[in-house]
Amino acid sequence: MYHSKIIGLGKYVPEQVVTNHDLSKLMDTSDEWIQERTGIVERRHIQKGDGNSTSTMGLKAAKKAIERAGIDKEDIELIVFATLSPDYYFPGCGVQIQEQLGIKTCPALDVRNQCSGFVYGISVADQFIKTGMYKNVLVIGSENHSGGLDMTTRGRHVSVIFGDGAGAAILSRSGDDSGILSTHLHSQGEHIDELSLRGPSTEIWVPELIEQNPQENIPYYPKMNGQLVFKNAVVRFSEVIHEGLKFNNLKKEEIDMFIPHQANLRISQFIQKKLGLGDEQVFNNIQKYGNTTAASIPIALTEAWEQGKIKKGDLVVLAAFGSGFTWGSVIIRW
Ligand code: ACO
Repeated sequence: MYHSKIIGLGKYVPEQVVTNHDLSKLMDTSDEWIQERTGIVERRHIQKGDGNSTSTMGLKAAKKAIERAGIDKEDIELIVFATLSPDYYFPGCGVQIQEQLGIKTCPALDVRNQCSGFVYGISVADQFIKTGMYKNVLVIGSENHSGGLDMTTRGRHVSVIFGDGAGAAILSRSGDDSGILSTHLHSQGEHIDELSLRGPSTEIWVPELIEQNPQENIPYYPKMNGQLVFKNAVVRFSEVIHEGLKFNNLKKEEIDMFIPHQANLRISQFIQKKLGLGDEQVFNNIQKYGNTTAASIPIALTEAWEQGKIKKGDLVVLAAFGSGFTWGSVIIRW
């Protein structure tokens, strides 16, 4: 059986910086409240006319990852695109990016697992490489949250958290035992409504949405039971990290770099404490970008790598939890 290895990473975030102070002009919130509860100081939002969308941000991140991997785009045998905010209702961003990259035909699939999307995407890529079916797989996580947030006081408990951006990785067949050791995925559909965006959908179509137009819980804005999400996140993050470590006969003391999905700095700090890791063993950048859902891990992984915080031989752990609920981990020997 083969191993897969990350050989190229890239990221892209829109230029427009939106600070907590900026948000406090649109809704009843404050820098103090946002920083205290989430750790977020600012995030990036697409600006009308700047040419960015979920697919085009994904393209910019992907181009960087391909360049750093030193492969030709024609070497990519599978595209996996994770997002909850696609440009089109259908088809998905996978085929859009294929067209934008100018790759004539190769399989392209979309992953719809929200904050866990990148971890799910890595797992899919890893399985195809392990079985020998493909040698090079492009995995992208990209989100345009700002296009669909309720930027009024009604939506403040959700809208202050999310930001836009994209990250990408090239996974390739490894020549040795380094690379992805294992991936672990879970979901629990009973919590489907606790963090969701119901419509527009085939169930609730646009005319109905406008007709109903309730003042609370408007189905075309994200809805979140923040406290339940928080409570489940801290439990599931820990469980799935321990599952991955146990599977590989590793101990938490052996972790060199932990990159959590950037949901909320308080969640990351809680897990860090539970794992007994020092500040230099955990990478967070939610302060600058907010929660970019499927893009958060690849953006953080790219920055950690760019800053020289991940070295050959390091044990790197990725973990995510999000809407669905879904959660997962990736254990990597870099
Ligand atoms: N600014 C000011 N006040 C606010 C804001 C805001 N942006 N949002 C909510 N409030 C108010 C509420 O109205 C409430 O006021 P009240 O007491 O008068 O009713 C008060 O603050 C407390 O609200 P809670 O929702 O109970 O605040 P909580 O302490 O739970 O913090 C938060 C909310 C930050 C969302 C938290 O629950 C959380 O982080 N949950 C985890 C969810 C998460 O990480 N989601 C990220 C996306 S999902 C994912 O990636 C896993």
